[in-house]
Amino acid sequence: MACTAETLAAALRAAAAVIAGHRGELIDLDRAIGDADHGENMDRGFAAIVSALDALAPKTPETPAAVMKLAATTLISKVGGAAGPLYGTAFLRASVKLGDAAEVDGPLLVEALRAALEGVQARGKAVGGDATMVDALIPAVSAAEEAAGSDIAAILTAAADAADKGAESTVDLVPRKGRASYLGERAKGHLDPGARSTALVLRAFAEAAR
Ligand SMILES: Nc1ncnc2c1ncn2[C@@H]1O[C@H](COP(=O)(O)OP(=O)(O)OP(=O)(O)O)[C@@H](O)[C@H]1O
Ligand SMILES: [Mg+2]
Repeated sequence: MACTAETLAAALRAAAAVIAGHRGELIDLDRAIGDADHGENMDRGFAAIVSALDALAPKTPETPAAVMKLAATTLISKVGGAAGPLYGTAFLRASVKLGDAAEVDGPLLVEALRAALEGVQARGKAVGGDATMVDALIPAVSAAEEAAGSDIAAILTAAADAADKGAESTVDLVPRKGRASYLGERAKGHLDPGARSTALVLRAFAEAAR
C-alpha cells in the first residue's frame, strides 16, 4: 500500500497521540540532562499539527508533500527551543523531496527519510555519536535504505526498530550538542530525549502504515 495525503495525515494524528502519551516520559528524560521541556515542546507542536489538520477538515492538503509542509511550518512556528526547528527542518526537507507525488511508494519514502536526516544535520551540525536525535535518525535511514524494496509498513518498521536501538545507544555517549553538552561526562548514563521522541514518531508512523 502506498501512502496518500490522507494516510499521511492519519499517521501524523497517530504520532501526536503517541507523543501526548509519552509527554511525561520525555519531560523526565529532558529533566535529567536538559531543561525538562522536550515533552511539552513536542506535545505542543504535534497538537498544533492536529489543530491545523482539523482546521482544514473534512478536506486534507492535496498531496503528501503539502501535508508534510503544513506539519513543518506548524512545528517551526509553534515550537521553540532546539527541537522545533530541527523537526520542522526534517519535515520540510521531506516535503520538498516528496514533490508533487500523489502517493509515496517505498523508494520515495526512503529518499524523504534521507532528506529529513540531511536537513537535521545541516541545521544542527550534529554527527553520529553526539547523543542527539541524529543518533536515532542515522540508523533509521540506513535500515530504511536496506529495506527500500519492501512495502512502506516494512520500511518504517525497520526504521523504527533501528531508531529504538540508536536512541538506546545515546545512554553511553557524552553529549556534544545542545543543552545536554553543558553537562559533559555527567550526562552519561541518560537517554537523549530527542532521540527517544524521534524513535516514538517513527514507531507511530510504522504502526499507522500497517
Ligand atoms: N544541534 C543539534 N542537532 C541535533 N539535535 C539536537 C541538537 N541540539 C539539540 N538537539 C536535540 O534536541 C533535543 C532537546 O530538545 P528540546 O525540545 O528540549 O529543546 P532544548 O534543547 O530545551 O532547546 P533550548 O535549549 O533552546 O530551550 C535533544 O535531546 C537533542 O536530541
Ligand atoms: Mg529541553
